[in-house]
Amino acid sequence: AYPLAALGEKLPELLEGAGRVWLPLAREASLDRKALAAIELLHRRNRDGKRPPLGLLDARNLIGEERMIKDAGALESLRRAVSMSAEAHVDAMKHTRPGMHEYEVQARMEYLWRRAGSTGPGYGSIVGTGDNATILHYVDNAGRLEDGDILLIDAGAEWNFFSGDITRSWPVNGRFTSAQRDMYEVVLAANEAGIEGAVVGETIDSIHHACLRVLSEGMRSLGLLRESVDTIIEEKLYSRYYMHRTSHWLGVDVHDAGAYCLEGRPRPLAPGYVLTVEPAMYIAADDPHAPAELRGTGIRIEDDVLVRPDGRAPEILSAACPKRVDDLEKIIGSAL
Ligand code: GLY
Ligand code: MN
Ligand code: MN
Repeated sequence: AYPLAALGEKLPELLEGAGRVWLPLAREASLDRKALAAIELLHRRNRDGKRPPLGLLDARNLIGEERMIKDAGALESLRRAVSMSAEAHVDAMKHTRPGMHEYEVQARMEYLWRRAGSTGPGYGSIVGTGDNATILHYVDNAGRLEDGDILLIDAGAEWNFFSGDITRSWPVNGRFTSAQRDMYEVVLAANEAGIEGAVVGETIDSIHHACLRVLSEGMRSLGLLRESVDTIIEEKLYSRYYMHRTSHWLGVDVHDAGAYCLEGRPRPLAPGYVLTVEPAMYIAADDPHAPAELRGTGIRIEDDVLVRPDGRAPEILSAACPKRVDDLEKIIGSAL
């Protein structure tokens, strides 16, 4: 091992005589430059017998593929990360009351993780109430929890480098209004339909489409859109209320390495893959088409799912985190 500062100086001798050199290409310009400079130097020294490498290859695909199927060790760490994440969500539910601030809830969750020996959150925690929940990468977490609003929390612990990734959404005052409940049930039905599709041979794309169908039906029943479900899907009218994809690979990175498409087609799921299923619906505060009581509401329900061998239902790694309306209403504020 050498200090990183010596990389430029050491690379020529390390690459001398190597046929093919694998490195994460185009990821870090300074690394690319050092590799190219080393190759150029070896070309110039060829008269002294130095052999420049024949080519550079992108190691990212190779390493990403190694990370697709989670082995026993990876799963052990991931299970722990996800279960710590779920525990903190339940704790946040128990302590939710109007008048708190988003950062207080965030601090409780991250404190629990650090106290249990985790390095902390696996990504920037998102804690947003009311209209803040409709902002996709909201990380200010500075708002006040208002009576009547829905609180959306997307937060996950890191354990042994692996990250959990859970989103739950619940009413600040512990009771869904009937309109909020209707909207919640649509997103929950989409979440369940998506998870059901996380089986061998299906794809992240087919999961997305299963969710889109449920969400689009729901957008009609909630009075957000009037067109037929087929039109809503074909013309992407749903994107007014649901503008992101449904799943990503989960592992060491919250958006883990590994190709999503192989030879231009969505990659079939295989046993050992871990992915999220995170359908949502976001209604902007100034949406003129939405029922007034739902304006400024964001609901996302995100679970972490392990694909199991052919013929078996997926395992929901985040199953310990409640998401049924009745369960949430029992838990919210119960520690106060
Ligand atoms: N927390 C990032 C994501 O859900 O993709
Ligand atoms: Mn996610
Ligand atoms: Mn998330």
